[in-house]
Amino acid sequence: MKGLILSGGKGIRLYPLTYTCAKQLVPVANKPVLFRVIEAIKEAGIDDIGIVVGDTAAEIKNAVGDGSRWDVKITYIQQESPRGLADAVKTAQDFIGEERFVMFLGDNVIQGGISSLIQQFEASGYNSQIVLTRVVNPQQYGVAVLKNGAVVRLVEKPRDPPSDLALVGIYMFDHNIFEAVNKIRPSWRNELEITDAIQYLVDHGYSVHPYVHTGWWIDTGAPGDMLDANRLVLDELEPRIEGHVDRDSKLIGKVTVQRGAEVLGSVIRGPAIIGEDTRIVNSYVGPFTSIYHHVLVEKSEIEHSIVLEHSRIVDIPQRIESSLIGRNVEIVRSPLLPKAYKMTLGDHSKVGLL
Ligand code: TTP
Repeated sequence: MKGLILSGGKGIRLYPLTYTCAKQLVPVANKPVLFRVIEAIKEAGIDDIGIVVGDTAAEIKNAVGDGSRWDVKITYIQQESPRGLADAVKTAQDFIGEERFVMFLGDNVIQGGISSLIQQFEASGYNSQIVLTRVVNPQQYGVAVLKNGAVVRLVEKPRDPPSDLALVGIYMFDHNIFEAVNKIRPSWRNELEITDAIQYLVDHGYSVHPYVHTGWWIDTGAPGDMLDANRLVLDELEPRIEGHVDRDSKLIGKVTVQRGAEVLGSVIRGPAIIGEDTRIVNSYVGPFTSIYHHVLVEKSEIEHSIVLEHSRIVDIPQRIESSLIGRNVEIVRSPLLPKAYKMTLGDHSKVGLL
């Protein structure tokens, strides 16, 4: 089997972070979501992986390289513009050829990996297998209707949901999917929809098998989802101390301190991760916080947040929480008069002041 990761798209919902960075490279528990996807596919025994890329191709190639770090072979497939998930499949036809494959959205995180569902699909004669999970708000998802254990209908964001089984961003296909993606027409939003392609399979007598996933699954498309994914992944992380923690500091619960990091005179309450060469000085880092590499947090308190590389948070009197802080951001106290908030914020930034 081959793997296909979709890593194009626009990432509008994660602006401003994704103005300057591919959304699949935003880290969850200090590891880019895309790396977690590659690891899940490799763990399932697949080492021939295609990555569909768009405008952020250079950045993705730079971060992932040829895949040797994971002992996999990576082929990059350029999608001209983000015309939908089924269009991305179409773009990958030469790479996939006649093989069966798993398609994984590059911004999705799933608990427990995909080994068992890959095994099930490989052992089966199904033309396709889709992954479903029960959700409380099916109106916001593609939803599947089942009959006698088979998929009979798919509905995109239904107003009156016929079921609560939402499509998770992991799909398995054989080569018949290419007939489907080449036959369907663009939707109202001018995209080739994967739900339409799967519906085509159902309507033309191909077997589409549902796999109901019971653990958690997160599509990290929006900031709140990012923090949720971070919380869930941190909760499962095995703590490791590779950096320096001084005697005046206290680590409580599951805390990881990565190589070259320094924790001085601080309290860290896990689950939390402190990235490489980051310094936490006279500060409090609370649960569900990931601080990436080369960050300084000094005389400040932060929890339930993600801070990206090379940022500085210094001398902030109020606790920062539920925040997504980008690269090279400075949040510092400004002693100069007038006593006022002084900000340089990019487009689409959001600040909640007291
Ligand atoms: P989406 O989250 O559906 O789309 P998007 O990336 O354009 O995000 P936004 O709505 O915030 O603008 O995409 C799911 C995944 O599939 C994501 O990793 C991007 C990728 N993708 C492609 O590779 N090609 C495409 O044509 C589309 C629509 C998405």
